[in-house]
Amino acid sequence: MDFAQELKSRVDIVSVIGERVRLRKNGPNSYKGLCPFHTEKTPSFNVSPIKQFYYCHGCHAGGDVFKFVMEIEGVTFPEALKELAERNGIPVPKRAQYADDESRLREAAFQMHEIAAESFRANLHGPAGETARAYLVRRGLKPETVEQFGLGYSDRSGHALSRLLEQRKFTGAQIKEAGLARNRDDGSFYDYFRGRLMFPIHNEMGKVIGFGGRGLSDEDVPKYLNSPETPIYKKSKVVFNLHRAKEAIRKEDRAILVEGYMDVIGVAAAGFRGVVASCGTALTPDQVRAIKRHTDKMVVNFDPDAAGEKAAEGKLPILLEEGLQVRIVELDGGLDPDEYCKERGAEAYRARLDGAKGYFHWLADRARSQYDLRTTEGQVAVLRYLRPAVQRIQDKLERMQVANELAGYVGVDQRVVLDAFKKSVADRNERPIEMPAEMVRPDEKGLLNVLLSDIEGRDALLDELSKIEVLQRLAARRIFQVILTVHAAGAPLTFDAVNSRLEEPDQRLLAVAVLSAEGEGHDFTLEYGMQCLDSLRRSDYQQRVQELKRRIKEAERTGNLAEALGLAQELQRLERRPGGTG
Ligand code: GTP
Ligand code: MN
Repeated sequence: MDFAQELKSRVDIVSVIGERVRLRKNGPNSYKGLCPFHTEKTPSFNVSPIKQFYYCHGCHAGGDVFKFVMEIEGVTFPEALKELAERNGIPVPKRAQYADDESRLREAAFQMHEIAAESFRANLHGPAGETARAYLVRRGLKPETVEQFGLGYSDRSGHALSRLLEQRKFTGAQIKEAGLARNRDDGSFYDYFRGRLMFPIHNEMGKVIGFGGRGLSDEDVPKYLNSPETPIYKKSKVVFNLHRAKEAIRKEDRAILVEGYMDVIGVAAAGFRGVVASCGTALTPDQVRAIKRHTDKMVVNFDPDAAGEKAAEGKLPILLEEGLQVRIVELDGGLDPDEYCKERGAEAYRARLDGAKGYFHWLADRARSQYDLRTTEGQVAVLRYLRPAVQRIQDKLERMQVANELAGYVGVDQRVVLDAFKKSVADRNERPIEMPAEMVRPDEKGLLNVLLSDIEGRDALLDELSKIEVLQRLAARRIFQVILTVHAAGAPLTFDAVNSRLEEPDQRLLAVAVLSAEGEGHDFTLEYGMQCLDSLRRSDYQQRVQELKRRIKEAERTGNLAEALGLAQELQRLERRPGGTG
């Protein structure tokens, strides 16, 4: 048996995959879970301990335990082999060592990071670490917390680590490629981190792959220096503290997401072990998926106001896109999670976590506080604000449910605005929920409202309406036309009957007309309807008179006297019919 076969027979695929994916026993010889290779809501990812094989019915990913490690960690076959062997305490034979440069470099980088983490730790506890130790005391970190997170201190000299690594037979090129040193102009190199408090960053299997280095005084710029991208450290994939937190995350079926290293440490030290952070970058789909393999419930606790900003920039909905249930923690007193735990204590923090609002309610509350929901404009603005987040929900049914619930929650019950919202959410189209460009005049609005109210004598009004010329010049002309058509067909004249026969721009127009008139305090009586109709006729008459006068002047100015005369006669005829009834 070659080494790979032997190893395979000795590792249990269920426990290897089970570290990355929550698996449930699904039969005597089968386990099931949510597929880590695509986004899904119901599990179609199967693992068979008998066949030592996994397969996803959804995306058809499948293979043996090596393939799984290769795919999930993005490593080569020899690396997967080595990792599995090491984790199971099985020595790797010489001939199974890496052949390719890439794997060799990665292996060297892992080793160097282990050495670096150890050396930083030793510095922290040695004479060079005095300032850093004092800083940690000032920040209220207990020695066991410092130990647990493997914190360290990078020497100020700028060559301590590089020399140590060279002694251990790593080349300058390797040290630089591992992100632990950088070049000087003269070709020599110096330590990447100098005089900083060091936070080791681990991959999900618990290997150190990079560092965050915090300056100890305000003069240290940047405040945090993070490892550069290297063959083993890909910023966009790493979730800080996930390797420690994942057990608690699964057990509590909830991940706490914070922004900073110190927040993770502070929250974890207060007893909430299921806490992770994204190393200071905006959360990426890869990071979200890595968390989601352990729970689909996330409590987000960003620094004061950061959540709001991120929501506004559309950076939070990425969590929804991956199908996570998101709640948002709000801490009072402008405190970040770390400060809150220290100042208010674990119980207070727990209360905040447990009372965290659902993402959409939180978002709706923000919107409600920013816009005036008594106006149509305000309602449109609120829906516009909420829409990007709602649209990110993958599942259509759920999306529509959320849209409905939100509309109810913010109190938008105005039919057309709401319909426009639901429609754009349903089809996930990005078309703006617009205010109509053409504004409807008050008398038009009034008339529309009267016509759509079921009042005595409405027929007479409709009769009048059908006879007037002005109809064709109104902003709401197509709406009036539809009203007349519906009426002529003998169908019940209702809002919905009219609305459903309109194109979208006119639907919006109707919505605004109906909604804004509601607040103006008129009773929609027949009498009021007639007044509106008269007012429409009168202003139309005036408009036509003015238009004719303008054209006469124009004709005179250009010396076109025949035309001017004709227009003058037309004006006379018009003026003989006061009120302009057509
Ligand atoms: P303290 O300020 O010591 O409480 O640390 P913190 O972890 O709370 O940091 P902060 O809230 O300021 O920032 C959150 C995270 O963003 C940090 O943990 C870092 O990961 C990252 N970050 C902050 N400042 C910088 C910076 O200057 N450069 C880089 N690359 N990352 C930073
Ligand atoms: Mn902080």
